Amino acid sequence: MSDRVVRVGVVGVGGIARHYHVPSYLTNPAFQIVAACDVSQSALEAFQLLVDTVSYTNVDYETFFREAEVDLVSVCTSNDMHHDVVMAAIEQGVDVYCEKPLALTYSQAQEMASAARERGIRTGVNFSHRRTPASQLVKEILDSGALGDLYHVSALYAAGSPTYAQAPGTWRNVRERAGFGGLGDMGSHMLDMVNWWLGSPVTRVAATMKTFVRERVDRATGEPMQVTTEDEGLVLLEYGNGALGHLCGGYTFTGRGYDQRAEIYGTRGGLMYDQQHAYQLKVHLPEEDLAQYTVVERGGTLDNPYTTILVPERLQGARPGQTPSRRTVLMDFMDAYLAEGPFAFDPGFEAGLAVQEVLEAVRIGDDGRRWVDLPLS
Ligand SMILES: NC(=O)c1ccc[n+]([C@@H]2O[C@H](COP(=O)([O-])OP(=O)(O)OC[C@H]3O[C@@H](n4cnc5c(N)ncnc54)[C@H](O)[C@@H]3O)[C@@H](O)[C@H]2O)c1
Repeated sequence: MSDRVVRVGVVGVGGIARHYHVPSYLTNPAFQIVAACDVSQSALEAFQLLVDTVSYTNVDYETFFREAEVDLVSVCTSNDMHHDVVMAAIEQGVDVYCEKPLALTYSQAQEMASAARERGIRTGVNFSHRRTPASQLVKEILDSGALGDLYHVSALYAAGSPTYAQAPGTWRNVRERAGFGGLGDMGSHMLDMVNWWLGSPVTRVAATMKTFVRERVDRATGEPMQVTTEDEGLVLLEYGNGALGHLCGGYTFTGRGYDQRAEIYGTRGGLMYDQQHAYQLKVHLPEEDLAQYTVVERGGTLDNPYTTILVPERLQGARPGQTPSRRTVLMDFMDAYLAEGPFAFDPGFEAGLAVQEVLEAVRIGDDGRRWVDLPLS
């Protein structure tokens, strides 16, 4: 990469753009956000107050890509626009960092991934929870083979509050705009994380999804609206390495706030990941593997079978006194973007595509009440 500043555009300047993408780009002066697009003119004006380097704005993404001179775009719109915005970016040769889930459907995601491949576009998908320190440690332990051959994976991304049923409706409650509800929105993070941890493809899926709250008041119009996305989805999985899994994503876990957990068991050991204890992991590991970690609390008893270990500093991604206080996946993408040699980054569109394929199988399996084999033909 030359010394020239990477000119960044942001399409969709809502919550995730402001709270995640902007602070990540601001950590590195080699990147400058110079242009923004949103259907809302007032949102664009607020964004320009937040990011004073933005000199070009437009409410129409097609005009935006023709006129804005950008090298890289963050796509942060509602899910329904990811495909069209990304395809317009690729058409102009602009590199893409896209929010998750990559698309509404598997066929959209296939089209996006193959267009990016053909044009040599650098891609990233914001599966942001990969950067949780405990998740990094899970990856290290699994890569080391310390758990042996894997038997079982369970994963949960649960949110919920007593006011959930009364919450106003948004684009997230409309299938044509979101694709999926709790399973696609939150479960997609866990599907990706387990794919990454295991490094083994999903080979078979059965699933069920349910919408408990069928009507809400539309936040934008104040009118009643039908909810067409699931509140909760449950998936049974088989992996190429022989492991069995189950995964759940949903908004129906009253009182749990945002709570992400996973358990993985193999022939030599097991581990329990809990995002709310982001700097620790509960493990059962062979002594020689355990020896390299700092033990917080010894397990091994009936009441407390698991030993709690600390995430080593090298995996914490800490940035003391800085915002964001931990490294983000986007910051990893930015480093890869600037690195000499061929571009290499994961999660890119291939990771997004893998998740979208499982979600498609979930839809097929749920509709037909049957198991679905992957890869989908
Ligand atoms: N990685 C994560 O942890 C994480 C967290 C939250 C949201 N997300 C993802 O980020 C995306 C946006 O979520 P959000 O919470 O910021 O939503 P949001 O509703 O706050 O923002 C979306 C923005 O996109 C704009 N938009 C819609 N259609 C557009 C179009 N055609 N052209 C330009 N702009 C358009 C809207 O006006 C809005 O400002 C979603 O895909 C969501 O799944 C990811």
